[in-house]
Amino acid sequence: MTPLDPHKLPVHLAVIMDGNGRWAQQRMLKRIIGHQRGAETVKMVVEQASLLGIKYLTLFAFSSENWSRPALEVRALMTLLKKYMRQETERMMRKNIRYNVIGNRSELPDDVNETLDKAIQKTAANSGMVLTLALSYGGRQELCRAAARLAQDAVDGRLSIADVTTELFGSYLDTDNLPDPDFLIRTSGEMRISNFLLWQLAYTELYFTETNWPDFTINELHKALADFQSRERRFGMTGDQITGRGHPSNA
Ligand code: FPP
Repeated sequence: MTPLDPHKLPVHLAVIMDGNGRWAQQRMLKRIIGHQRGAETVKMVVEQASLLGIKYLTLFAFSSENWSRPALEVRALMTLLKKYMRQETERMMRKNIRYNVIGNRSELPDDVNETLDKAIQKTAANSGMVLTLALSYGGRQELCRAAARLAQDAVDGRLSIADVTTELFGSYLDTDNLPDPDFLIRTSGEMRISNFLLWQLAYTELYFTETNWPDFTINELHKALADFQSRERRFGMTGDQITGRGHPSNA
């Protein structure tokens, strides 16, 4: 396995888990079998991330746009999610992991919300990794909800226009209590963001792999993290500013 520097891991790892459907179709299986196998990969990545000491792991589990899929697939995904939450909560307790959810929860079925609430409450005092599931989540929708709440606060006199900074705006987002992701992995060869964390990914390092999510292994995770460790993050500055190397022309 690729050796990793424990001091240079992403604080926040985000993942677009793509390719479950194609994985299944390539094997003449129903798409939901691909999602079931994908849930096994979720267990592996959650366990590995927590073992490595990653503080925040955010998984794109169901997008705002996924509601347009065939009703049978949507129902099967909701059932799979409930099963996962019920089965995994004890393990989350043992591993000191805290659940969090972002997205428009009002669009989720009541039974899913009840299962989520139970899991969130049970793990609320855990102090280890924060596992955020993005459910019924879309970046543009999140930005609109934030803008609407901010506008309401301005109309009600709780803030003035001069108060609007990037920090203030960020506090209206679902991710208010999360740092921005340092690293984003997307599986299955698609090279796009697909309406995920549009605001929060501003300076995130991106990583794409051809592997479909059900085939994503521990080795691949380590390879991706090793790639992250080789990158120089500049946040709009020069390389010399980041490394502290002076350049004669700046003297
Ligand atoms: C994308 O694959 C994946 C999804 C829309 C759902 C992700 C769900 C899981 C990984 C399993 C359940 C999650 C949890 C947290 C238990 P796709 O169907 O778009 O694949 P395709 O692009 O090949 O069709």
